[in-house]
Amino acid sequence: MAYSGLLSRYGHLLNLPPHTRTISLLEGDTPLIPADYLSRQLGGGFELFIKFEGLNPTGSFKDRGMTAAVSEAFGRNATTVICASTGNTAASAAAYAARAGMKSIVLIPQGKVAAGKLAGAAAYGARVIQIEGSFDDALTMVIEITNKHPICLVNSINPYRIEGQKTGAFEICDAIESAPDWLCLPVGNAGNISAYWAGFKQYNEIKSTGLPQVLGVQAAGAAPLVIGHAVENPETVATAIRIGKPARGEQALQAAEESNGKIIAATDTQIVDMQKLLARLEGIWVEPASAAGLAGLAIEIENGNLNPKGKRVVAICTGHGLKDPDIVIKDMVKPQVVMPNLSALEEVILG
Ligand code: F0G
Repeated sequence: MAYSGLLSRYGHLLNLPPHTRTISLLEGDTPLIPADYLSRQLGGGFELFIKFEGLNPTGSFKDRGMTAAVSEAFGRNATTVICASTGNTAASAAAYAARAGMKSIVLIPQGKVAAGKLAGAAAYGARVIQIEGSFDDALTMVIEITNKHPICLVNSINPYRIEGQKTGAFEICDAIESAPDWLCLPVGNAGNISAYWAGFKQYNEIKSTGLPQVLGVQAAGAAPLVIGHAVENPETVATAIRIGKPARGEQALQAAEESNGKIIAATDTQIVDMQKLLARLEGIWVEPASAAGLAGLAIEIENGNLNPKGKRVVAICTGHGLKDPDIVIKDMVKPQVVMPNLSALEEVILG
C-alpha cells in the first residue's frame, strides 16, 4: 500500500482527540542508514545507524510532531498557529499551516537563525517576527500570548507534538525489530528526547521491543541540563539547540535516568568536526545541531564511559545540512576558476 503519512500509519497509537483532521505532507518513513565507516572510525565492533530526519518534507524531524499538532488544531477550526523557534519548528509550522489553509506566526531570535530555515518559513507564508532576545524569551512570549488569545501554540509544550514525535521510535523498532541498545540525539528544548523515550516505552509495552539507553547531547555553550541550571546567554554554532531553559528539561533528565543513559555536552569544535566526518565518511550532510548526538557518542567512547562493542547504536540526525549552508561555505576552499576549454581543465586536474 502506498505510504500515506504518519497519522495514517501510527495514528491508532497516538493520543489525539477525535476531532483531529489529518494534515499531512507524507512526513516520516525516514531511512535508517547503516554507517559502517563511521562505526569503524569510532573503534568499530558495533552496528551504527543514522536515522536521517533531514529527509522529512521540510528538512527536519519537526514534521512528525507538526502533522499531529496542526491536524488537531485544524480539526477544531483553529485559524492561526504560533511558535517560538530556532528555525526548524518555524519552517515546519508554516508548511503545515499553509497546507491546512491556516495562518502561521513565528517568533525567532534575531540574527541567530540559519538561512535555510528562515527562507523556508518565508516561502511557506509565515509571518516572521524577530525578537531582540533569545529563543527562551520568544517561548515565554508565545506562551503568554496564547494564554490570552485564541491562537494555537505549536511548540513542543503542545502535547500533540510529542505524540507525533513518538513515531520516530516506532519506526526504528519496526526497522530493526527491536529497540537499539543506545539512542543518541541532540537536546535543545528537550521535546524530542522526551518523545522518543515515551515512544520506546509504549512500543515495549505492546510489542516487547526492549528499551534503549538514551544519550542526550547539548552544546557546551547551551547545556543547562548538564550544568544543572538555566543558561542566561546560551551560545553555540549549533543554533538549533541554542536554548538556555528547555521547556521539557525535567522530562529529558528523567528519560536519561530511567533509561540508564545520560545527558552530556559537546563543544562546538566537536560538533562541527563530527558534522564534517559524517558528510565525508558516509555522504550524509546534516546541520551542526544534528551532529551533536554522534559527537556525544564519540566523546563517551573516547573517554571509556560507553563500550559499544557488540551493540546496536542509533543516532538521530535531526535536520538536513542544506538548512545551514553558511557554516560550510564560510570554511570552504574557494572553487578554482578555469577558462572554458579542455587544456585549461587538464592543467588544473592533471597538473
Ligand atoms: N536538532 C535540530 C535540527 C533542531 O532544530 C532542534 C530543535 C533539536 C535538534 C532539538 O530538539 O528541542 O526537541 O530538544 N529545534 C527547535 C526549533 C527548538 O525551534 O526548531 P528539542
